[in-house]
Amino acid sequence: MLTKVIMPDELEEAAQMILQGGIVAFPTETVYGLGAGIHQEEAIQKIYRVKGRPMDNPLIVHISQKEQMVDLTRKVSKFAKILLDTFCPGPLTLILPKKENLSHYITAGLDTVAIRIPIHPLAQKFIQLSGCPVAAPSANLSGRPSSTIFTHVKEDLWGKVDGIIKGDEPSLGLESTIVDVSVNPALILRPGHITLEMLEEVLGKGQIQYDPALLVRKEREGVAKAPGMKYKHYAPRADLFLLEGNAKAVKKKIMYYYQKKTEQGKKVGIMTVGKVSDYPQDFYRFLSKTGDEKQVASNLYRILREFDDLGVDYIYAENIRMEEGLSGAIFNRLIKAASYQIERVEDV
Ligand code: TXA
Ligand code: MG
Repeated sequence: MLTKVIMPDELEEAAQMILQGGIVAFPTETVYGLGAGIHQEEAIQKIYRVKGRPMDNPLIVHISQKEQMVDLTRKVSKFAKILLDTFCPGPLTLILPKKENLSHYITAGLDTVAIRIPIHPLAQKFIQLSGCPVAAPSANLSGRPSSTIFTHVKEDLWGKVDGIIKGDEPSLGLESTIVDVSVNPALILRPGHITLEMLEEVLGKGQIQYDPALLVRKEREGVAKAPGMKYKHYAPRADLFLLEGNAKAVKKKIMYYYQKKTEQGKKVGIMTVGKVSDYPQDFYRFLSKTGDEKQVASNLYRILREFDDLGVDYIYAENIRMEEGLSGAIFNRLIKAASYQIERVEDV
């Protein structure tokens, strides 16, 4: 299939593709999305096929203005209204009771629908011109890190989609926060830039909490309420290990692995946050020199994919445990990318 690169001044063409039942990748402020019009059943099914996405993992419906919600949801609760007024448009997805006639391919048979209003001007305009809500998961092959730059969308989807809108890079780099407001208290199903603290501030303490399934380990992931959270996710091709503990000991251990694997002819990537270290420089990347969490979030997927491009076999990450707010969201992705392979190192 012929894929067209669509420039920001050609959005009309992207909208035409959507109207004619095509699928188009577009930038948002979080990561790139891969969209189809909500009334185009075949295009929606094609999204699953192209990504290799399990059919029980529903899509997010993207709209450009709140008024479009009437076609999607039966009820906008008081909490939903507050969140809409405070954080939308922006990197927040709300789970609400769905309207009956919505395609079950969008909601994967659930009784709820995920709705998001991106703030990225190209996403806004593209949805507006399409004249209908756009159902879209992230624009990557299933299981791979989400695409934060145009080149990565191209890598995964070239020849498989009708168009890719080439925007400036999404600034945030981590997928939206998902909040289920169809239950009480509201639940954070996927942490992101809109943090628990920010949500508590407007909803009140005790009115919102993390989905308990987020806090348990892999073995119990099957219980996660956002179906997407239970799959191997965000993962680079290389085997990623997180090493934690005494800084010196961790460094020594990483160097031990580096030497051992390199001798075996393997390529070894090393990843750190907060400082630039004197590790061997060939496959060494830092997520942020200063430790700034926003920078880490915006670099994480790009660097994991860069390791893939370099043909790295193993990645060792040095002491990157982060618990709260945005840092917690970053760690949530990292730990999945590592398939929960964490090694605690104590002796120097
Ligand atoms: O930032 C984002 O949210 C990006 C951009 C493109 O908007 N999109 C994104 O989509 O990350 P995706 O498909 O990669 O993640 C959608 C997540 C999945 O974990 C899915 O299970 C969950 O949303 N989801 C969708 N509908 C749901 C529902 N009704 N109830 C619970 N979770 C739902
Ligand atoms: Mg995704």
